[in-house]
Amino acid sequence: MTQKRQILVTSALPYANGGIHLGHMVEHIQTDIWVRFQKSRGHECYYVCADDTHGTPVMLAAQKQGVTPEEMIASVRESHLADFTGFGIGYDNYYSTHSPENEALSRQIYLALKQNGKIESRTIEQLFDPEKKLFLPDRFVKGECPKCHAQDQYGDNCEVCGATYSPTELIKPYSAISGATPVLKESEHFFFKLGDCADYLKQWTAGTSTLIDGCQQPHLQAEALNKMNEWLQTDQLNDWDISRDAPYFGFEIPDAPNKYFYVWLDAPIGYMASFKNLCDRIGIDFDSWFKTDTTTEMYHFIGKDILYFHALFWPATLKYADLREPTGVFAHGFLTVDGQKMSKSRGTFITAHSYLEQKLNPEWLRYYFAAKLNSKIEDLDLNLTDFVARVNSDLVGKYVNIAARAAGFISKRFQGKLTDVSSSKLLSQLQAQSESIAASYEAREYARALREIMALADVVNEYVDANKPWELARQEGEDARLQQVCSELINAFRILTVYLSPVLPNLATEAAAFLNVAPLQWSDSKSILPAGHNINHYQHLMQRVEAKQMDDLVAANKQNIQTAQTTTVENKYEPVAPTVSFDDFMKIDMRVAKVLACEKVEGSSKLLKFKLDLGFEQRTVFSGIAASYPEPDKLVGRMVIMVVNFAARKMAKFGFSEGMITSASGNDQLFLLDVDSGAQPGMKVG
Ligand code: MSP
Ligand code: ZN
Repeated sequence: MTQKRQILVTSALPYANGGIHLGHMVEHIQTDIWVRFQKSRGHECYYVCADDTHGTPVMLAAQKQGVTPEEMIASVRESHLADFTGFGIGYDNYYSTHSPENEALSRQIYLALKQNGKIESRTIEQLFDPEKKLFLPDRFVKGECPKCHAQDQYGDNCEVCGATYSPTELIKPYSAISGATPVLKESEHFFFKLGDCADYLKQWTAGTSTLIDGCQQPHLQAEALNKMNEWLQTDQLNDWDISRDAPYFGFEIPDAPNKYFYVWLDAPIGYMASFKNLCDRIGIDFDSWFKTDTTTEMYHFIGKDILYFHALFWPATLKYADLREPTGVFAHGFLTVDGQKMSKSRGTFITAHSYLEQKLNPEWLRYYFAAKLNSKIEDLDLNLTDFVARVNSDLVGKYVNIAARAAGFISKRFQGKLTDVSSSKLLSQLQAQSESIAASYEAREYARALREIMALADVVNEYVDANKPWELARQEGEDARLQQVCSELINAFRILTVYLSPVLPNLATEAAAFLNVAPLQWSDSKSILPAGHNINHYQHLMQRVEAKQMDDLVAANKQNIQTAQTTTVENKYEPVAPTVSFDDFMKIDMRVAKVLACEKVEGSSKLLKFKLDLGFEQRTVFSGIAASYPEPDKLVGRMVIMVVNFAARKMAKFGFSEGMITSASGNDQLFLLDVDSGAQPGMKVG
């Protein structure tokens, strides 16, 4: 090995108000493979992550569940960790942004930024929910799109025409939380003066880091740099609003009562906090990793949607807090399923939990994602048919079967003992690829690495077919040859296992037990098991996947969704009115009434004129339900529910209305109430 590197690696911190799906798994599997590769190469590498716990959505989700945010994030963290662990993700620490370390670091960094003149306070106007008494994030204001007039669009962009705008531009805005009409309200906010950092950011985004082995590591991928240049060149670098007003679930800003750090300020600091927590636990010098002159490396694996935060805000935050910057930011594309965006209704929004619950082997997915991942920011498609084919033909058919084909003979015929194969041409051919495959992993070109490895598996399988151990086993006097061929195959399997171990950690562990060797390191690909080495009895290392299992997975996710959808629809309901007493309720006198006559009203498109029988008297009532009941004469003879103790109201020029007919409303329609048969006009409701 060359020089021992010290490497800190992160995956983006999942939000604590949602579950883990296969899109998240792309990122954590990609990161985990890289980390396992670095560790296997003998480097000092740490992988940290955490839940991203702060912000309005978490606060509201907890309220809805009737628990405290602390309770909610604790249980979510547990389920996130169970999902990730189920897929073999080997964090050195999985923490929470709601931690004392993160609070201390966030304050420290904020105060340093302030000291360096990068913080400014300004009064801004923002939409405020007068009922819930909180400032509304853009996604919590809805209304009519100012461009295309589509209804119920979010405050930041229209899903119908794609227009972007500010929430104050919405027509007829309403709070997605309470339904109330938001009002503009002034408040003091703190800004990070990012506009001041343009020159620095132009330099940093285009820059590289020199590693201790002399290699140059670009800070950003080429496509990411292009994107950042678009932002930087148009001088659109706006100052960044880093504060939010109470009530907010987060950390209070020093010397600013009722002001909290915006979640995106403390989230990336959460990487540091998770690492700090690890350092304190196992005795690493945290500070030496974050000094500006450190020789340690720090990499962030993220999705393309959060590049802006990691390639602009985060380096500037670190720089002006006098801390080290990232060595590299590695962005990946989004997961699609069968060529389309993951969809809840199609059942392709697949949760990590459902995959594990269906008892699908997580290493199938790790292998499949790896076979499609490269260092570019390209979307990655999970094609369910291709998944089955590839796992079965490559992983099981080409690789696992090598062990299966040789192990039996070694056990039965040679008491589990290998013979000397140190001069095998086959094995030197496999070993010769070690550095090239390593270079592919290092460069995050996993698809290329797996192509190289599977090409070697093909070579081994050709060797099997050429030497036919099953025929040697039947021939007299071929024992030595049989033992030699099978020993070569066992060694070939061992070398391929080393190459695949970053992708298939569980299988590599089981293979090591079968091979009767210590956990495999990359350097093991350069050695050969000696004559006399004993292997253990072979048990099949991996099952094939069946197409039906994919159908079941999709079906399971379709069910999940119906329950999920009812919860999102809830926001469309009218908020529940303030509590009233029974006496209050009884003040409203509602009676059953029979429709004697009903007709349209000349000169009004809205009103219908009713003649109603209350038993004790008859009344005339106007009701604004004409749009929902275009054929009024069909209502004659039915019962309605009527409020009888309203003061009589004059309906414009049409006359007096002597009460009100009740109806349910929704989706721009009205629905008259009815009563079961047997009820008589005049009966009281309540
Ligand atoms: N909490 C922020 C990240 C803070 S990092 C300091 C966040 N959370 S997230 O849960 O929405 O997303 C976490 C990661 O998952 C992001 O990197 C995001 O790009 C990634 N993905 C979410 N959906 C994805 C796909 N469908 N496909 C691939 N990655 C996806 O953003
Ligand atoms: Zn629109």
